[in-house]
Amino acid sequence: MTAVFSILFLMTFLKFGLAADIVLTVNPTQVEAMRHDAVVLDCQANKNNSVEFISKPVIWKHVANDGTIHKITIGFNLDEGANKTKYEIDHREAETNYSFKLKILRVGDEDDGKYICEHKDANLITLSSVEVPFTVLNPVEKVRIEVVTVVTCDRMCSDSQIMANSDINTVKEGEFEVTCTAEGSNPSPQMTLKVNDDVQYSDTTIEKSFVGNRPYYKGNFTKRLSFSAYKCGIQTVECSAGIPRKQFPDKSAGLKLKDCLDSAAVVVKPLGILLCILLALFVRRISSDL
Ligand SMILES: *[C@@H]1O[C@H](CO)[C@@H](O)[C@H](O)[C@H]1NC(C)=O
Ligand SMILES: *[C@@H]1O[C@H](CO)[C@@H](O)[C@H](O)[C@H]1NC(C)=O
Ligand SMILES: *[C@@H]1O[C@H](CO)[C@@H](O)[C@H](O)[C@H]1NC(C)=O
Ligand SMILES: *[C@@H]1O[C@H](CO)[C@@H](O)[C@H](O)[C@H]1NC(C)=O
Repeated sequence: MTAVFSILFLMTFLKFGLAADIVLTVNPTQVEAMRHDAVVLDCQANKNNSVEFISKPVIWKHVANDGTIHKITIGFNLDEGANKTKYEIDHREAETNYSFKLKILRVGDEDDGKYICEHKDANLITLSSVEVPFTVLNPVEKVRIEVVTVVTCDRMCSDSQIMANSDINTVKEGEFEVTCTAEGSNPSPQMTLKVNDDVQYSDTTIEKSFVGNRPYYKGNFTKRLSFSAYKCGIQTVECSAGIPRKQFPDKSAGLKLKDCLDSAAVVVKPLGILLCILLALFVRRISSDL
């Protein structure tokens, strides 16, 4: 064991040698940005002498979600292959450090992944490295709710467009399976099932996939609920999903279920209520007889 550590130490020493004294500090340490934003990433090396960075450059690069590496800067300049309309480098000496600021003028989907600042030796071997995880925010794009009655398997569906003026679905009391799906967000969404505005269930079981290079999260869950007719009114089931970021409100899809008797409950209200009470008494009677 000791031998292994000694060898590791020796290898580390041989590899990094005396150059290990440069420490990189990055600011910010992670980024969440919107498309079209401008973002500045500052990588500071704790030595203020530019001569140091002529032979042993600090570089910025980007690693996309599919692992593709894009070189952006090397030392005081943009890399040959870098997009000159997208990036700028600003380097300057301060009292205690040397700063390499990478300016991203316009964030796009392709920026999702991570930016990495590295200190290289003269042979471009990496001496030290700091990563900035970079998320290009996207709201939940679609939410869907599906309610299936367990006995008859009648399907009722709704998506977020229908939600606003969704028709009332008349159902019989009993067991229902409610499936909520959400997709499109970055980072992953939090999903909630509400019945009559009360949260019944929350879930974050999410799959990650990609549209091009952009992470595209999808989630779904199915819950079994039972509705009873005792309220004689309209009940709502609603799926909401969102990323917990203030600029994006949650998105919802809901269904209204009327689980009382029939139109009598709506048109002639007192009569409807009376019918419901009678029904409730009747049901209770039957159950106590059993
Ligand atoms: C370079 O960046 C600009 C601005 O973000 C973008 O419109 C353009 O498509 C990029 N060019 C390439 C070759 O990626
Ligand atoms: C860099 O450090 C040296 C030595 O500590 C100091 O004399 C010099 O003023 C510093 N440069 C700046 C720009 O502060
Ligand atoms: C680098 O120098 C600037 C200006 O003096 C200072 O504000 C900053 O905190 C320094 N960074 C580090 C990592 O020491
Ligand atoms: C729900 O998610 C699972 C895996 O997480 C997936 O296999 C299934 O196709 C999804 N169902 C729907 C309706 O999206």
